[in-house]
Amino acid sequence: MTLNVKNCSFISLPTIKDGRDGILCVAEQFHTIPFDIKRVFYIYNLHENNAIRGKHAHREVEQVIFCIRGDFDITLDDGKNQQTIKLQKPNEGLYIGTYVWNVMTNFSDDCILLVFASDLYNESEYIREYDVFIDEVSKIV
Ligand code: TYD
Repeated sequence: MTLNVKNCSFISLPTIKDGRDGILCVAEQFHTIPFDIKRVFYIYNLHENNAIRGKHAHREVEQVIFCIRGDFDITLDDGKNQQTIKLQKPNEGLYIGTYVWNVMTNFSDDCILLVFASDLYNESEYIREYDVFIDEVSKIV
């Protein structure tokens, strides 16, 4: 699938399958993850069918999101183009740069999201109002 939303790309992590059971998946900063990983968070216990997460963009923080168990949909919006993608493979993630509005829905009951972020949590770098996002993104050349 081709992404037509700015500042987003797919990231595929290498997996190691040796003679033992299980798959080992590796993420490395500045290599497969294109930034210094300053924060990691994960989301689980998603049991409501109609749960909606995200609904924001970041002014400064870049993220890479993986669905390491189950699946969910993420709608990306760069202010012009919108695209909805299903994340469903533990080693195939999505890079989301700055000024991308994202909304996450349709979480499977067993879904676990793993996120690598380029900086510490700082609420002031979030844009949580869609109107403000459209206003700010329209001023970026
Ligand atoms: P939010 O980023 O809105 O979650 P999501 O994108 O999954 O919908 O964060 C939800 C709450 O958690 C909000 O009150 C901020 C807080 N939070 C932190 O304190 N630290 C963090 O690193 C993150 C990601 C969120």
